[in-house]
Amino acid sequence: MKKQKKSKVTISQILDKKKNREKISMLTAYDYSISRICNETELDIVLIGDSAATVMLGYDSTRKIGMEEMMTYCKGVANGITRQLIVADMPFGSYQTGISDSVRNAFKFLRCGCDAVKLEGGWEIVDIIKNLTGLGVPVMGHIGLKPQTTPLHQGYGLQGKTAEDAVMLIREARALEEAGVFSIVLEKVTSEVSSVITQIVKVPIIGIGCGPYVDGQVLVIHDMLGLYNDMEPKFVKKYTNMADQIFDVIQEYDNEIKSGKFPQEGHTYHMTEEEYAQLKKMLKRV
Ligand code: KIV
Repeated sequence: MKKQKKSKVTISQILDKKKNREKISMLTAYDYSISRICNETELDIVLIGDSAATVMLGYDSTRKIGMEEMMTYCKGVANGITRQLIVADMPFGSYQTGISDSVRNAFKFLRCGCDAVKLEGGWEIVDIIKNLTGLGVPVMGHIGLKPQTTPLHQGYGLQGKTAEDAVMLIREARALEEAGVFSIVLEKVTSEVSSVITQIVKVPIIGIGCGPYVDGQVLVIHDMLGLYNDMEPKFVKKYTNMADQIFDVIQEYDNEIKSGKFPQEGHTYHMTEEEYAQLKKMLKRV
């Protein structure tokens, strides 16, 4: 891993990427050690997603994670990242309860070292987003499949399947743009509709499960590393199977302890010979 000294990615660079037709890369991270590795890559954005609820805490829904838990992950990531733009997902219930709650909680994330916040939702939160961006808080939107709310009504199904749904999504994307978001995550929307939204809206559209005709892509790091295999949606590309690799290594560790192969001389500390001789004499007296 090469150490790179690169300057921090800015929001205007993210906006320019769309103008210059350069793709934007975003990945989730939740801790310091992984973030330090991300920091050495060319990734553009690191997202502390509320997917932490499932992959880090084992909850069955992203609705269950709270501010304190999210802020702990944000602090770890912010300590490891100097290069990427850091975006914090605002958890369910931290902004829907009103403008003053949303402002107070968004500033908590900025104080943790995050550069921007992401809010899941469309029409129902346009005023909240407008208020945040008006106060200078950079906001990323998130529409299409919204894991905090959509599954209650429709499960985790594909969005934008009909022309009518498509028009609603396009209108929502434009409303978020007018409210001042600097980019929008679009989740599990048909490729045709994703492409149309990407052409109509001026801010970058970052897709997950939306096909290739968007301005950027995001995945959950546990999915692409093959660390979390409970759900394997079609849109995830598993770049490796770390769950199997970690299993093998932990099993080897267990075997080596039990067979006496670990630790060896190279892993061991010693007293000086004089001190050891002295200790033996003292033990005889005892
Ligand atoms: O919570 C998350 O990780 C997300 C991404 C999947 C976009 O919102």
